[in-house]
Amino acid sequence: IGTELTTEFRSRYGSDNVYCTDIRDDVSSQLKEEGNYDILNVLNYDELSNFIKSRNIDAIVHLAAILSGRGENNPFNCWEVNTVSAMNVFKIGVEQSIKRIFIPSSMAAWGLGIEPDNVSQASILRPTSIYGVTKVAIERLAEYFFLKYGLDTRGVRFPGIISSEALPGGGTTDYAVEIFYDAIRTKHYKSFINQGTLLPMMYMPDAIKSVIMLMEADISKLRYHGDYNIAAFSFAPEDLADEIKQFIPDFTIEYEPDFRQKIAESWPRTIDDS
Ligand code: SER
Repeated sequence: IGTELTTEFRSRYGSDNVYCTDIRDDVSSQLKEEGNYDILNVLNYDELSNFIKSRNIDAIVHLAAILSGRGENNPFNCWEVNTVSAMNVFKIGVEQSIKRIFIPSSMAAWGLGIEPDNVSQASILRPTSIYGVTKVAIERLAEYFFLKYGLDTRGVRFPGIISSEALPGGGTTDYAVEIFYDAIRTKHYKSFINQGTLLPMMYMPDAIKSVIMLMEADISKLRYHGDYNIAAFSFAPEDLADEIKQFIPDFTIEYEPDFRQKIAESWPRTIDDS
């Protein structure tokens, strides 16, 4: 999300006013050359705090996280990366009077005990992945720091995001991005998500638009902090395969569900974002 959001922010607010950071150096040359780009470890509180102070930063979009699939390889590390970094951002937000903070939540915040169709804003949050657990914690922290300090925290519960620019990064919904790469490379895709598994998804430009609309909204209009439901459309792997076949007629798909199938089955099929 950060890859495409940075480009949009640069054109909207001016390259000099946007600081993009990552822990890695192996990002696109566009990201590195068309504006500010720095290596930063968001788990290092001093490093993060000094970076923000020295550049007079007044708004933070914090996207660094380990996603649902990869998180299951090492739940302890996922908890640390996702929540300690978010806590650093909230703390710096309070200390440096940051004007606005965005940290996304996810549909992974849901899990056990939901009615899977049209899941509402208030549906119970019992995640089945450590990633989902971290997202619930961060949502609640965002609301807490708003209530306690008036810190302007904002976020949406993203469905699976499909990007044509950025490579997939360890999520359960990433099959819906991988499939395009394999379709072009080998005309075949082995899906780790089973046939018939309907999941909420969104095209990246709409996700970017939602961040900008929420960040530019007047705070008096906000009823929630950190956890707005948001939706676009839902599909299952075979729906996507059928669409791809219209362009690559001999494309084939096979199904070999792994541990991510259970996670996907605990998530909503559709989301009510009214
Ligand atoms: N797309 C994410 C994932 O699958 C959910 O937020 O992990």
